[in-house]
Amino acid sequence: MMASELQKLTKKNRGFYVKMRILHKGRQPEKGLFFKYYQWILWFSLTLYFLTSFFITNKPIPLSKTHVFGSRFSLASRVLFESVNKTSQQPKLKNPVTFKDLKIYIYDLPSEYNENWLSNKRCSNHLFASEVAIHRALLNSYDFRTFDPNEADFFFVPVYVSCNFSTVNGFPDIGHARSLLFSAIQLVSSNYPFWNRSQGSDHVFVASHDYGACFHAMEDRAVDNGIPEFLKNSIILQTFGVNYKHPCQDVENVLIPPYISPESIKKTLEKAPLTGNRDIMVFFRGKMEVHPKNVSGKFYSKRVRTEIWRRYKGDKRFYLQRHRFAGYQSEIVRSVFCLCPLGWAPWSPRLVESVALGCVPVIIADGIRLPFRSVVNWAEISLTVAERDVGRLGHILEHVAATNLSAIQKNLWDPTVKRALLFNDHMQEGDATWQVLTSLYNKLNRSYRRRSRVWNQ
Ligand SMILES: *[C@@H]1O[C@H](CO)[C@@H](O)[C@H](O)[C@H]1NC(C)=O
Ligand SMILES: *[C@@H]1O[C@H](CO)[C@@H](O)[C@H](O)[C@H]1NC(C)=O
Ligand SMILES: *[C@@H]1O[C@H](CO)[C@@H](O)[C@H](O)[C@H]1NC(C)=O
Ligand SMILES: *[C@@H]1O[C@H](CO)[C@@H](O)[C@H](O)[C@H]1NC(C)=O
Ligand SMILES: *[C@@H]1O[C@H](CO)[C@@H](O)[C@H](O)[C@H]1NC(C)=O
Ligand SMILES: *[C@@H]1O[C@H](CO)[C@@H](O)[C@H](O)[C@H]1NC(C)=O
Repeated sequence: MMASELQKLTKKNRGFYVKMRILHKGRQPEKGLFFKYYQWILWFSLTLYFLTSFFITNKPIPLSKTHVFGSRFSLASRVLFESVNKTSQQPKLKNPVTFKDLKIYIYDLPSEYNENWLSNKRCSNHLFASEVAIHRALLNSYDFRTFDPNEADFFFVPVYVSCNFSTVNGFPDIGHARSLLFSAIQLVSSNYPFWNRSQGSDHVFVASHDYGACFHAMEDRAVDNGIPEFLKNSIILQTFGVNYKHPCQDVENVLIPPYISPESIKKTLEKAPLTGNRDIMVFFRGKMEVHPKNVSGKFYSKRVRTEIWRRYKGDKRFYLQRHRFAGYQSEIVRSVFCLCPLGWAPWSPRLVESVALGCVPVIIADGIRLPFRSVVNWAEISLTVAERDVGRLGHILEHVAATNLSAIQKNLWDPTVKRALLFNDHMQEGDATWQVLTSLYNKLNRSYRRRSRVWNQ
């Protein structure tokens, strides 16, 4: 852990970390008596801490209310589950100042809408897996999750639509996304009163594929189909974003990063540190078609990748690879600049991988809108090259390497940046799910509960 990080933690979570440090100091043998005294205080304050936090946070759930939504048995096991995990998880996350008392209710849908898809391991790991990751993090977040829908500000509808992997090319077939979501909404709106009372405006969905809420991988088809009528009032967490008007983001939305497994990043960094030797100047691995097909008037990557390949394939500064390789993260961590050109959609998982592995992202996707701009200052940690300038990449990157590269790297290696782009199963302060909650918090005026409370006053 870096010193600054530790400092931050101790400041924010006084109780726990300070006690840890005292315990650590006290271990020195020459401080025998002193140590015993501290040990006693430690024991006493820990007990007091857990006791009070238990009583403060475990509001008794009125049985009459919960009876409608679950059996007594599940209530009892929930309370057990809650209190066990509260003691272990909660101290790390408590931040009532940031989020006031933001409350999310997660619909408990039948498993065919979510859990069943996890039988395929890829479902929780591929680039669209934020639909799974956000659900998991919310399930585990005892500060923000509520089991009582009457006190919820937002309603999370957990439907995994990206896990029907094609047997032909292995890519997710999202053809069933609309019908699956529609049927989930039918279920929720006929069994609970919360959808109808707000027309879904306080309900939250994840649309983590190419054109987000339009549910199609090709822009023209996505635009033709548009955002389904039944989602138009809701809040969509989506990876697709551009800084101009586009029918696939014409809905209340939160721009989220694509999913990259934090474990894979951790493993890669264990073998090669962020600040280690970088012997590759410019890296790109991915589809670069030599003769891209004209697909109803469009070319893959608007032919940007073809141009990169054509112009730089023999250039010693460029390490360009066109084939899949499972160990590609070890190449990113060896590289100074990582190209992030558009594919069919402007965004790419490379954005997150480059940042997390400390390789300066070179974004080539005109008009792209990037996630969490209030915490990630993209202009300071990346380079943007216009699509039409791709032929001058070599020159542009040489210039940066000779001038402000180390300033960019210094900004990029700030751990808060990496943290903000990764989803953890157990939410951490400042991580991607945390940023989603911050964005939702800024939309609290869509909460039916809050609005009606204001009216009643
Ligand atoms: C509480 O969370 C931990 C992960 O930190 C998990 O392994 C454990 O199963 C949870 N506790 C219960 C009672 O399920
Ligand atoms: C999954 O996709 C295939 C086409 O690749 C389709 O035939 C099938 O109906 C889909 N499965 C579900 C459950 O929607
Ligand atoms: C919500 O509205 C729909 C359509 O009007 C209706 O079918 C459904 O029963 C309503 N739900 C509840 C819980 O009243
Ligand atoms: C691509 O195909 C469309 C028809 O689908 C055609 O109008 C257009 O001229 C073609 N573009 C090029 C550059 O060949
Ligand atoms: C670095 O220099 C390039 C121009 O060479 C400029 O576009 C970029 O904004 C600079 N970045 C930082 C963080 O100074
Ligand atoms: C909520 O506030 C934002 C500005 O903060 C505004 O643009 C939006 O229209 C408001 N929404 C509602 C439902 O009042």
